[in-house]
Order: sequence, then structure tokens, then C-alpha cells
Amino acid sequence: MKYEISRHGLRGEITVPGDKSISHRSVMFGALANGVTEIENFLRGADCLSTISCFTKMGIHTEVTPSTIYVHGNGLRGLTAPTHILDCGNSGTTTRLISGILAAQNFSCSLVGDASLKKRPMNRIIRPLSMMGADIRSTLGNDCLPLRINGRQLHGIHYQSPVASAQVKSAVLLAGLTADSPTSVTEPYLSRNHTELMLGTFGAKVTSEGTTATIYPAEELYAQKITVPGDISSAAFFLAGALIVPGSEIVLRNVGINPTRAGILTVCREMGGDITYENVTQDGEPSADLVVRASDLHGITIQGEIIPKLIDELPVIAVMACYAKGTTIIRDAAELKVKESNRIRIMVDNLKLMGADVEETDDGMIIRGGRPLHGAVINSANDHRIAMSFSVASLNCEGETTITRKDCVSISYPRFYIDMKSLVNAGQDYGKEF
Ligand code: S3P
Repeated sequence: MKYEISRHGLRGEITVPGDKSISHRSVMFGALANGVTEIENFLRGADCLSTISCFTKMGIHTEVTPSTIYVHGNGLRGLTAPTHILDCGNSGTTTRLISGILAAQNFSCSLVGDASLKKRPMNRIIRPLSMMGADIRSTLGNDCLPLRINGRQLHGIHYQSPVASAQVKSAVLLAGLTADSPTSVTEPYLSRNHTELMLGTFGAKVTSEGTTATIYPAEELYAQKITVPGDISSAAFFLAGALIVPGSEIVLRNVGINPTRAGILTVCREMGGDITYENVTQDGEPSADLVVRASDLHGITIQGEIIPKLIDELPVIAVMACYAKGTTIIRDAAELKVKESNRIRIMVDNLKLMGADVEETDDGMIIRGGRPLHGAVINSANDHRIAMSFSVASLNCEGETTITRKDCVSISYPRFYIDMKSLVNAGQDYGKEF
């Protein structure tokens, strides 16, 4: 790919697709509720479709119309034994959250996934769920998929999680929904809190104090009407693109800015990025329109409690850091090694191919910005966020860039290249008379 960037950079406005984390949870919690949950702006990416397909196999009826997904809930104890193996595709969120639900059912089932998902650690959920009395095991004995789960009555625990992971926290809280006593999870740093907020709206009693979330056993959940805000993790690519391409000015409409997710906004501003909010809404999951203008960026250190708030955005932050003056250090991000790919290794290898001065560390990377990048053949590792990050890197570099298996963006953002092209084209048309 070679984007023909005009001196006006990226221009125009787009509405990014619905938030992936919230879309998954809307279907899961809707399936467990009584009544019909209506979901608007649901993300129709492959990951969230994997979640729908798993629940369909457990007797949940979903109606899909162009604007809305209707989930006909069967109640907290209404799932039925799946007739087929549950295939979670590429989705870690589907696997880990659904495991918490399945561990408490009165039937047995098996979970499988694609080549990337099969390599991801599942001991992080097997351990706490087993502590709750669950019968869950990795059938190959390697702590990875396939998983076999024989559902049963669970008991409440207090779990001290070694990782700041919303997937682990959510699996345990979901298992706690029908346990015999309250269940709490304490994590080293606060991870995204969509499960806590959304289960609360569905009628469960969930409390949060610092980095501890507690769920009380529920009698029933109640169907909701949900409008999913735009995904900040998808907005991140255009945000980074507009900041690094001179002349740019774009508007990203209706982006979710939940503080446990919006670490990238803090980082961009600390790097000198010009981002302003308009039309901020505060109820439930907050959202805003983001106005982003090209900026002279400088390197910073990113570490500690902000890491879980921007974990999925670190690949594109690394790209921005290459275009910033000075050094950016990313620390405490070892979790990146167990995402859809080893994102530390893949980012560093690919950025080097483009001429960047970047170094891999045990738990992050060091990027010395300011060297001009050039086109290269990029190995996406079939990882959607790597493909999109390098599409952004290619905006501003000399020569052609080829990204292998670039269609993997359909996991979280099927229209990604169309939306990117529209901002590039609007830049070319900017100021022309028609
Ligand atoms: C997610 C949590 C994060 C994130 C993933 C979605 C969620 O994973 O990387 O894309 O929806 O709960 P971890 O919990 O493994 O950090």
C-alpha cells in the first residue's frame, strides 16, 4: 500500500465501529438475562460474531437487523448443552469470559479456537475457576485450548490475580454470579471495568473499591437496551495517524472514553498531541467526539498503572513514538507477549524493517524516535492490531509498504481500510473547488 498524502494530511470525520469489549458483553449478559436485550452499534467483527455463534449453540436466539441485534435471553440458568464444540475463533475475550459462565452450568462442553488462540495461556482462568470448585481442564495438559468444562455449582472466593486482566477478572465475576457466596477479585492495577458497570445495569449487585471488584450471587438479570459507544482501540489508529501526518485535522465521532480504557488519550497529550473533546456524554459508558490535529510529538516513559488502560493501543503508540522527538520507553507491558501475537517481538521486528531505532526489552521496548521510516514488507502475524498499526506507519514514510494477510483487520474493524482511505482522500480534496 502507498497512501498519497496531500499537504493537508488526513481530513474529515468518521464514526468508528462499536466497542469490541462492550459488544461481547452485551451478547453474553443479554443471553443470561430474562427478556430481549436490544443492542445498537454492535461491532460486527469476527470476534464478536464468535461470541454470538457460541451462544446460538447453547439455545440463545439472536435476531440481526441492519441497525440492531436482539438477544432473546433465557435467564441465568437457561443455557442448554451445546450440540457442537464451541469455537471461539481468534477471540480471547470470548474464551475466557464464556469459561466463567460455563463453569457454573449443569452441562459439559468443550472450547476450541484458531491457531493463535490455541497458543494463549488459559491457566490464568483455570486456576481461579478451579479454586471456586470448577471442573475445567486443558485437554492437552498444556494450559491452552482445547478446554473441557464440566459445569457445576461453584462457591465464592477472594482471588488475588497476579495479572491486571479484565478477561480474568470477568471470568471470575461471571462464575460468581450463581456461586453460593460473594466473589471478589483484586488485581495489581485496575483493568477495564465494563463487566462491573454492565452487570450492574443488568441488575446484579457489583461493588468496586480500588482494584477490588465484588459480585454477589444474583437471582436474575434483566434485559437491557444498549447503545455501544465507538471503540477507542479502533479510534486509536486514526488518532495516531492524524497526530503524525503533517496538516491533519480529523474528527472521530462518538468514541468511548471510559477512564479504564482511555490511557491512550493521556499518553498522546503527554507526548504533545493536540486532542480536544466535544459532545461529551457521561451516563453509563462515557463517550465524546475527538478532534485531533497534527502535532510535534516528543518521547515519554509509559509504565505502571496506565498500562492496562492502553494495552491494546501499545502497538500503535510504538508507531507514534517513531515519529516523536526523543526516546519513548514502554515498561511493565509483558502482557503484550501473550496477545493475538507476541506484540513486543512483532512490533520491534517490523519497525526495524522500516528503519526505526527500536529495541526489545523483557517487558516492553525502547524507541528512539525521529529517524525517517521507509516502506517494507511487514509480517502482520495475522494479528489485526499489527496490520492496522503498520497501515498507520506507512502513511508517513517513503516508498511502498506491503502487509501480509492484511485482511485480518476484520477481527475488530472490517471497514478499516475504507475508513482510512476516506480520511486520506478528504485530505487530497481539501481546499479544492467543486
Ligand atoms: C479485553 C481485555 C484485554 C484486552 C482485550 C479485550 C476484554 O485483555 O487486551 O482485547 O474485553 O476484557 P486482557 O484481559 O487479557 O488484558
